Amino acid sequence: MTAKSREEAWALLTTYILSQPLRRHALSVEASMRHMARSAGVTDPDEVTTWGIAGLLHDFDYEKYPTEADHVWRGMEILREKGWPEEIILAIGGHAFYTGIPRETRMAKALLAVDELTGFVGACALVRPSKKIADVPVESVLKRLKEKSFARTVDRGCVAKGAEEWGVPLPELAALVLASQVPIADRLGLGGSPSADLPDAPCPPLPDAPHLHRTVAS
Ligand SMILES: [Fe+2]
Repeated sequence: MTAKSREEAWALLTTYILSQPLRRHALSVEASMRHMARSAGVTDPDEVTTWGIAGLLHDFDYEKYPTEADHVWRGMEILREKGWPEEIILAIGGHAFYTGIPRETRMAKALLAVDELTGFVGACALVRPSKKIADVPVESVLKRLKEKSFARTVDRGCVAKGAEEWGVPLPELAALVLASQVPIADRLGLGGSPSADLPDAPCPPLPDAPHLHRTVAS
């Protein structure tokens, strides 16, 4: 059982993050983390929620503390003060290479694997005529990853390292991340039209689970 709820995570997130793109990023990483949990064979709904919360909160301190001297470190301090589970805190610490915090759990490895890719697949959707993530094939994501000028802020080395640590080939990881975004496409502005703002409350509904094509061995 998660001692803290997803609603508490959303309240914390929206206290610190006012930027709509960053709120959408948090939701998109949450959806990917939940899908990654299921793909790794996690069946306990509370554990799936815990993975999702790590995704929701992984950048919650970024708007207030954007430098490498502070980002993640301050967030970890705040989460510890508020009694969030250490497994979530360490996963969040491990998603930034410069912390040197090793990714020792499946949840921590998943966070590294999906963080950059969620934004990248979204960018792939927005250059399509339909602007729908449901129309983006995996092949297109892989091709765009080779184009250095496309979404140039996405660190390709980090994407490759994430797939390697997670233990699946990049096409498989890209397919998981793509599928995870489809159920919340409208909330992310990836359903063919711009999204409405994400308010402080209520907490957005949970994303539906996309179809799981295969289970990844841990
Ligand atoms: Fe992030």
